[in-house]
Order: sequence, then structure tokens, then C-alpha cells
Amino acid sequence: MEFSVKSGSPEKQRISCVAAGVFESRKLSHSAQILDEASGGYIANLIRRGECEGKLGQTLLLHNVPNTLCDRVLLIGCGREKNFNAKAFHKTNEMVARFLDERGATEVFSCLTELTVKNKETAWKVSHAVQATEDALYHFDQLKSKKESSRRPLRRVVFSVPSRRELPEGEQAVRNGMAIASGITLAKDLANLPGNICTPTYLAEQAKALNKTYREFKVKILEETDMEKLGMGALLSVARGSRQPAKLIAMEHKGGDKNQKPIVLVGKGVTFDSGGISLKPGAAMDEMKFDMCGAASVFGVLSACAELQLPINVVGLVPATENLPDGLATKPGDIVTSMSGTTIEILNTDAEGRLILCDALSYAAKYDPDTVIDIATLTGACIVALGNHPAGLLGNHSPLVNDLLSAGKTANDRCWELPLWDDYQEQLDSNFADIANIGGKEAGTITAACFLSRFTKKYRWAHLDIAGVAWNSGKAKGATGRPVPLLMQYIFDRMEDMGAK
Ligand code: BES
Ligand code: MN
Ligand code: ZN
Repeated sequence: MEFSVKSGSPEKQRISCVAAGVFESRKLSHSAQILDEASGGYIANLIRRGECEGKLGQTLLLHNVPNTLCDRVLLIGCGREKNFNAKAFHKTNEMVARFLDERGATEVFSCLTELTVKNKETAWKVSHAVQATEDALYHFDQLKSKKESSRRPLRRVVFSVPSRRELPEGEQAVRNGMAIASGITLAKDLANLPGNICTPTYLAEQAKALNKTYREFKVKILEETDMEKLGMGALLSVARGSRQPAKLIAMEHKGGDKNQKPIVLVGKGVTFDSGGISLKPGAAMDEMKFDMCGAASVFGVLSACAELQLPINVVGLVPATENLPDGLATKPGDIVTSMSGTTIEILNTDAEGRLILCDALSYAAKYDPDTVIDIATLTGACIVALGNHPAGLLGNHSPLVNDLLSAGKTANDRCWELPLWDDYQEQLDSNFADIANIGGKEAGTITAACFLSRFTKKYRWAHLDIAGVAWNSGKAKGATGRPVPLLMQYIFDRMEDMGAK
């Protein structure tokens, strides 16, 4: 898709479509008013007759509106003006993209970016409008033998900005939005691929491919023999049941000063989680191909940072393996030694995410990180606690936790803090090893984070449990690309703090 920004009057756009908002009930937005005045009250007249109430997501397509230079005007319902928030903004942009893509308008001048969204400036609106458009038009048909593409797809979207003065920031916002959108698309694509294609080796190859595309990018793949040398007994214990070799993928975007400590992102990369010997029940087990969504988000963020050549150092670490039952698989009761030396009694082989993450988190210390954030589809309990709206957030450094909460709000990709109190730590006590890998049925998301906290004492660390937000089930089954928007916002905010922007 081609995106751009322009400042100009809507009735003067020589383009196949102009999109403008209508609020509930029947209140024209500023741009719709301008179109109406040019047309001599044509639009207001239709609205008065009840053609468009302005309900959120409602559409009305008009052809040959008098005294306009465009072929069509698309009126788009925006709901109540005082409720027009980030979510409604996203939805209306999605509606415009989907509606026009199906109806033969190949280009649009969208005035939605001129609407007031509380506390959001033009750059935010443009970047998010780009992301919403790409989100709406995303489909995963790589593995369909017949592709269902639109006959005359939408190809060019021009976002209206209020003045010429705002063009430079608008153009930068288009670039940011496009890079974030590609990161989201990459995350979705990797996650939507089935487990027989997206194996640990496949993920390693994707990292090498990024390395070819971007200078300033470095990739190192650790093989099982390397993990043995490093003493990564926890990570290796999960891979024992699989015939696919595990990989520890290390990607580095080196955009910042050599002495600047990196932000390290660690993404859970279980390319299929059957539960292992503690086998999962069969219903919806296919969705456990999404158990590498944390890894996918790390790929998405690293590629967006590289695409934008951000002046910051970011490392992505992805421990990748399958979790399968087999004669050699780890059994409940087995005890393994992690890279840190801590011994772990594996009471449930389905609590495998924390086992691969703990060794990756120990390895992260080698980068002398400024901050470490891990992203993982870690616990079903997180869905019970928070549902599908926010990711779970826990951490050992409250400014970092607050930064992530705030980035999530800004990016409309929210997370919510759960308490990482010492009170919960004793649930991990083991009779036979230093710790057990499960903490009983209470507070499962917190005890999983408690487990990780034993391996993250050397640095500032936060954990995002994305079990509830990384993919949709049911008819709209598919990866969401979350939390790429949140992490990108966090990185932008950090760059601002460091004066690197
Ligand atoms: N990948 C799952 C968590 C999960 C389950 C995410 C369902 C999204 C939907 C993880 O590896 C797992 O199996 N966790 C167990 C932990 C338990 C054994 C302590 C769980 O949540 O049941
Ligand atoms: Mn599991
Ligand atoms: Zn898992």
C-alpha cells in the first residue's frame, strides 16, 4: 500500500474517493461540512432524510457529489463525538479500508486524521491510521491454493493533515506507521504458519533473512551443542521430546552508540506446545502453534527498528523449540540444572515456557542490558485473570513497569500489572530441587513470573504474559501481532528520554 499525507480542501481532491466522518446523531464532521457546503447542502439533505445516522462503523457511499472533484464521497459513522477515542479511530480507519477495497475505489483521501481524538496529535493519528489500514487488509493466504484477492484493490491512501506546517511530522508518522505495520504483519505471518512449517529451524532462517535485508543487523544462532556448553539444561529439557533441533536465536539491531546498553527482548518460541508428557487435552490444541507469538513479536519489533534505522541498540533473543511427548522426553519429576546453576524439578512438562525462558534470561545478562523484557504466551491463568483485553505485566523495577503501562495506553495495546510479591514465591518450593516449575492452582500467572524472577536479579526486568492477546480464536482465528505496537511505543518513548530522537 502506498501511504502519504496532504493538506488541502476535501472538495478539491481529484481522486477516486474522499472519506469523511459523521457523528451520531447526524452531525457532520468539519471535513464533511466543507464537502456539504461545496455541494450546496446535498450531503446535509441526505443525512436529514436518515441515510446515515453516524453510528460507529456505518457507511454511506455517494457518487458524483455536486461541485467536488472526486468520483465518490464515503461518509463514515464515527459514533458519539465525545466517545471518539483511539479504539473508535482504529475501527473507522479499518472500515474505510475494507469498504473501499471491496468496491473498486483504488485510492482515497481520508479526512479521518483531521478528527479530534482525545490527547492525540496529528503524528499519532497518521501512524495509527496507517496501522489500522494494514490491519484491516491483512489476510493470510500463503497456504491456500487459490488466492481470493480483490479485483480492484485499494492501492493508495492519502491522509489529510490540517496545515502544510504539519506535513513533515505527518510524513515521518507515515514512515513510522508503515514500519510498525510491517513488523505487525511479520509477527502475524510467522505466528499463523503451522507448526510443521514454522519450526525452530524455520525461525532461525527468518532471522538470517533479516540479517541479509538490513545492515547494522547481526544474527547468531546457538545450536543444541552450544546450549550444552553453556549449561542450558532447562531449555534442552524441553527440546528432548522433539525431533526438531532447538535453536537460540540472537538478533541485534545496532543503531545506537557503541557504549549504549541495549534493550533486550526475549520472546517465547515454542513452535508447538502439546504439553509434552503432561499432554494437553485435544480441544483446540491446534492453537498451540501460536505458542511462539512472543518470539514472533520480537521478530516484528527488531525488523521495524532496523527498517527505521532507529538510533538505539535492541537485542532480540528467541529460545525456539517444540514441546512434544516421546520416549526421550522429560518426565514429571525429572530434575534439571539451568544455566544459572539453579536446579529445577519439572512437576509438569506443560509448564515449558518458563524453562526455555529462564536459560534465555540468564544468557541475556551477557549483553550487559539496560533493560530486559520477556514476551510469552505463558499461562492460561492469565486469560482467566484478565481476559483478552490487556496483556499481563509483572516486573522487578517499577519505573519500567510504569513505562510499559503508559506505552500500552498510548499505542492502544494495553497491559495490566499483577503483583510480583514475595508472598507468592514459596509456592515454588520443591522437596527435591531448588525450585519446582509449577506453583499450584492459585495465581498461576504470578507464580510463573515468580519462577522467571529467580533468573532476572542482575538487571531491570519486566514480563509480558500475552496468552490472552496474541491471537483470536473462533471464526476470526489468527494472530493479532500484539504486543508489537506496545513495544515499539516503549522504544520510541525511551529514545525520547535518551534524547536520541
Ligand atoms: N502455552 C501454554 C499457555 C497457554 C495456554 C497460552 C492456553 C494460551 C492458551 C503454557 O505452556 C502452558 O501450558 N501453561 C500451563 C501452565 C501450568 C501447567 C502450570 C497452563 O497455563 O495450563
Ligand atoms: Mn505448555
Ligand atoms: Zn506453552
